[in-house]
Amino acid sequence: MSSSLRRRAAGNSGQDAASDDQSRTSAKDDSSSPAPKRTVQKKRFGSKRWNLFVLGLGGVLGIVLAGWFAQNNEMIDLAAIADLNLETIADILPAGLLQDAKDLQKHEREAVNYDSFAVGLHARSQGVQASNPVIMVPGVISTGLESWGTEEISRQYFRKRLWGSWTMMKALVMDKPNWKQHIMLDKNTGLDPPGGIKLRAAQGFDATDFFITGYWIWNKILENLATIGYDPTNAFTAAYDWRLSYMNYEKRDQYFTRLKSHIELAVKVSDKKVVLLSHSMGSQVLYYFFHWVEAKGYGDGGPNWVEEHVDSWINISGCMLGTPKGMPAVLSGEMKDTAQLNAFAVYGAEKFLSRSERAEIFRAMPGISSMLPMGGEAVWGNHESAPDDAPGQNNSFGSFIRFREINGTTHGYNNMTVTEALPFLFKHSEEWYKDMITSSYSHGVAHTKEEIDRNQDIPSKWVNPLETRLPLAPSLKIYCFYGVGKPTERAYFYRKDHDLLSSLNVTMDTGYTSGEVDHGILMGEGDGTVNLLSTGYMCAKGWKMKRYNPAGAQIKTYEMPHEPDRFSPRGGPNTGDHVDILGRSSLNDMILKVAGGKGHTIDSHIVSNILEYADKVAIRDDDE
Ligand SMILES: *[C@@H]1O[C@H](CO)[C@@H](O)[C@H](O)[C@H]1NC(C)=O
Ligand SMILES: *[C@@H]1O[C@H](CO)[C@@H](O)[C@H](O)[C@H]1NC(C)=O
Ligand SMILES: *[C@@H]1O[C@H](CO)[C@@H](O)[C@H](O)[C@H]1NC(C)=O
Ligand SMILES: *[C@@H]1O[C@H](CO)[C@@H](O)[C@H](O)[C@H]1NC(C)=O
Ligand SMILES: *[C@@H]1O[C@H](CO)[C@@H](O)[C@H](O)[C@H]1NC(C)=O
Repeated sequence: MSSSLRRRAAGNSGQDAASDDQSRTSAKDDSSSPAPKRTVQKKRFGSKRWNLFVLGLGGVLGIVLAGWFAQNNEMIDLAAIADLNLETIADILPAGLLQDAKDLQKHEREAVNYDSFAVGLHARSQGVQASNPVIMVPGVISTGLESWGTEEISRQYFRKRLWGSWTMMKALVMDKPNWKQHIMLDKNTGLDPPGGIKLRAAQGFDATDFFITGYWIWNKILENLATIGYDPTNAFTAAYDWRLSYMNYEKRDQYFTRLKSHIELAVKVSDKKVVLLSHSMGSQVLYYFFHWVEAKGYGDGGPNWVEEHVDSWINISGCMLGTPKGMPAVLSGEMKDTAQLNAFAVYGAEKFLSRSERAEIFRAMPGISSMLPMGGEAVWGNHESAPDDAPGQNNSFGSFIRFREINGTTHGYNNMTVTEALPFLFKHSEEWYKDMITSSYSHGVAHTKEEIDRNQDIPSKWVNPLETRLPLAPSLKIYCFYGVGKPTERAYFYRKDHDLLSSLNVTMDTGYTSGEVDHGILMGEGDGTVNLLSTGYMCAKGWKMKRYNPAGAQIKTYEMPHEPDRFSPRGGPNTGDHVDILGRSSLNDMILKVAGGKGHTIDSHIVSNILEYADKVAIRDDDE
């Protein structure tokens, strides 16, 4: 190990909280100048990999590597990494890559950046000012998790982030068994593991502004909100431990109780209803919260609570119907991000966490499984066809997991639709996992109003907008903002796993590339992480149905086509990427309008084929 890096590492382990802070601050100074990682990646491997960050499924490797390439030289010196060898990550990085990284890093600095604060300044000049209190509910994975355990095993990590910081990467590489033990929940209870190990969601704006040095998540939105007059008295981030199943948010952390009382307080002091801002899985969490708050014996807010407390709900890249990508993550610890990466990255991922380890970790974070696709064959298609099949497509998306014959056999595996894949997953995982998921979530469709009324009292249904209804809030305004036009995983080819060391039975057939199949994956439409059917169906069609939206809450859908700036690693002002969209100018502009009480000036804007697909979804409207 080079002495400079060792020094850095030691310093870092000694005072990680401080250096995290420092990195956050220095990143803030320069937050519009994007880290070079995406470009590095693009050049060598295609741009897909950065989704790792997003859903983070399988993304641990990506995070490790991203850290090496993060632009903050105070923390990571590429030259120092080049000197590393023994038991370090660097020996998996080819020398050429390091040189590329350095070059690209330089280009990045010179590349045009889009302005921080600009959207806010423009809005302010147009007379938009802070009005309603804003509450932000972040997405999965992007919230940092801190260790609060005080037993021997946890002491070195006290109040350090074992998720979402440099400490995490170090712990993963240097102290993997311990890191795994901390990060995984108890399999049977789904709560903290025994032995005093405790991770808790970081709190405040710091929990979600940056994920890791220089990689902004909410920071641009914060900059713009601040510019029109928001500060910690009228804006609040409601971070949660996304590893837990939703009911356990309340059971362990009283998250929903806290959120409810925070909203009530905000309404009381400002005398205005709140604007809720959720991203990705945060939309599901809020949807669940609305049911919890209304239900007797849970939040006890009664049927008018939402109407009385919530003005608008801005839902960014919501994945209300889950996402296909959730399945391979828990089935075999894989996702395109590892599959379509080249051999180098797969090698790296396997070196630190094997497929089976990744599957084990994801299963032991039941929150992640809330993103398994919902709505079954009605939404995602059957063996004949799927609503979003393209004309002339040879492999319908409806056969969600496929097995081709290899050497004349599929080893007895059959092709499966989304509905069939779920029992398959349970058959190939442990009993505790099945129990946890079936008791926490539900993946079907309710076809009648009676069924929906019954489901309003069943917590496992609260995550599924096809089995429950929107709150009875006629003046609630819902804004669905999401990106379109970025290829997104939709269906997979699998094969028997021949790896003797693996405890998995099947694995993605990454060796299969032919026609529309790319390394075992069929790509569909979406924002790069979540499919269009999931981002768009409820907004474009589902909530136009009386049984799903009986009070007639107003829904506006604004699609944002993915038009990335190729010089900008995070896609620039017009990106539609699942996470990077949080920095998109038009998105920021619309958020400010809604928060500033000018949401009525926003009109729906649909550019994708979602309406056509929605008509093919096999869910009938009673009123039709
Ligand atoms: C499953 O799909 C593959 C590829 O589309 C096809 O070759 C195979 O015959 C299908 N298997 C069955 C049992 O239909
Ligand atoms: C298929 O059979 C050939 C020849 O027997 C063998 O070399 C190859 O490894 C087999 N492929 C698989 C995926 O089993
Ligand atoms: C999966 O593989 C394990 C061993 O690796 C085996 O014990 C188990 O029976 C297999 N499960 C199924 C459903 O084939
Ligand atoms: C479908 O299969 C045909 C025949 O194998 C091939 O010519 C065509 O390119 C395929 N279509 C796509 C979209 O891959
Ligand atoms: C959130 O938006 C997504 C689309 O981005 C949509 O699928 C989902 O149904 C919306 N949910 C809510 C509650 O607005």
